[in-house]
Amino acid sequence: MHLTNQLQHNQLQQVPGAMPKITYISNAGEEHTIDVSVGMTVMRAAIANNIPGIDADCGGSCACATCHVYVDPAWVERVKPADPTEADMLDFVLDRQPNSRLSCQLEVTAALDGFVVRTPASQH
Ligand code: FES
Repeated sequence: MHLTNQLQHNQLQQVPGAMPKITYISNAGEEHTIDVSVGMTVMRAAIANNIPGIDADCGGSCACATCHVYVDPAWVERVKPADPTEADMLDFVLDRQPNSRLSCQLEVTAALDGFVVRTPASQH
């Protein structure tokens, strides 16, 4: 990590109420970067900010697989692995890839400042 980024990262870790930046990139390449409260999920933040490409039909219960995202390769190892329920639900997404995740299961932490996900061409 670049020194400046490391410093910003460390400062963010220490600030209560910090708002990590999360970037969503659509299948067409459109980017949205938003500030997200720690503890919110990547899915809820997208819905609350009208980010296109995430349907979340079940509202975050890990029961619909319509909140599918591709985690940027640089971040794959830095998020908690999918639990068995999420791993099972990922069988239902279109075009599953090794970096596929359900965004309702990705909780935002201060360490995720700069996190990037790509949304698929379709959730259905
Ligand atoms: S919102 Fe339904 S599985 Fe994530």
